[in-house]
Amino acid sequence: MAWDPALYSTFAQPRLRPALDLLARVEIDRPGRVIDLGCGTGNVTRLIKARWPDAEVAGVDSSPEMLAAARDGGGGVAYTLADMATWTAGQLVDVLFSNAALHWLGDHATLFPRLFDQVAAGGVLAVQMPHNHYAASHTIMAEAAAAGPWRDVLAPLAGRFPVADPSSYYDLLAPLAVGLDIWETEYLHVLEGDNPVVAWTMGTALRPLLAVVEGEWRDGFLAEYSRRIAAAYPPRADGKTLLPFRRLFMVAVKPGRAIPPPA
Ligand SMILES: C[S@@+](CC[C@H](N)C(=O)[O-])C[C@H]1O[C@@H](n2cnc3c(N)ncnc32)[C@H](O)[C@@H]1O
Repeated sequence: MAWDPALYSTFAQPRLRPALDLLARVEIDRPGRVIDLGCGTGNVTRLIKARWPDAEVAGVDSSPEMLAAARDGGGGVAYTLADMATWTAGQLVDVLFSNAALHWLGDHATLFPRLFDQVAAGGVLAVQMPHNHYAASHTIMAEAAAAGPWRDVLAPLAGRFPVADPSSYYDLLAPLAVGLDIWETEYLHVLEGDNPVVAWTMGTALRPLLAVVEGEWRDGFLAEYSRRIAAAYPPRADGKTLLPFRRLFMVAVKPGRAIPPPA
């Protein structure tokens, strides 16, 4: 299932906002080692490096296409091809940052404590994931997957969503952390173009489904999904389309040396 850096970057600005909101909540002055897990095209990784220019900043991703785009961006960041499911830091990190990536992995009850194990004393695990599986953009995916001859192939792939309720992450991390901040934000993305929610999901959540069908089935499924999405997300009077999008954030601080207070 290849990623398409250009397609993903179509909505670079609205996709960047949650990463910036998360980064703003990481209250460390001088981290030594920072990892951006699931770094994609590196646009956030470069901002992380800009915030802490003295830190050793590295991006980790399993997509050669995304990493190629990231490396093209330069910025004094090292990039590593690895699967987050099995990745370990080698040397503990001061900030383990992950924006819009960990929802691609299951079994969060095992994953999150394991990732927190990679964080040094006084360091931070900072994560943002979509928490919008109930939104029409996703429920319609499951409906369209079940609404045609492709249903046996696509229906089992739709509706998978490993992100749990915020309280579950509290239960996992609170016993291990000295500070834990968990919150949700529902953004109201304002999108331009014709039926832009389809273009948005084609860059992300729709990809695993489109990867396993071709020809008439691919066209038919996409047409069915697009028709239903157009009805659920009509353009406003100014021609723009609103996409409400809920996201879950958490910042967990490891016991150890004191973290400087917020500025
Ligand atoms: C939605 S993009 C987010 C990219 C970046 N963090 C950002 O905020 O722009 C998700 C990224 O997670 C990566 N990813 C998904 N599953 C992965 C895995 N198992 N191991 C490593 N990276 C993975 C994808 O290749 C993709 O680049």
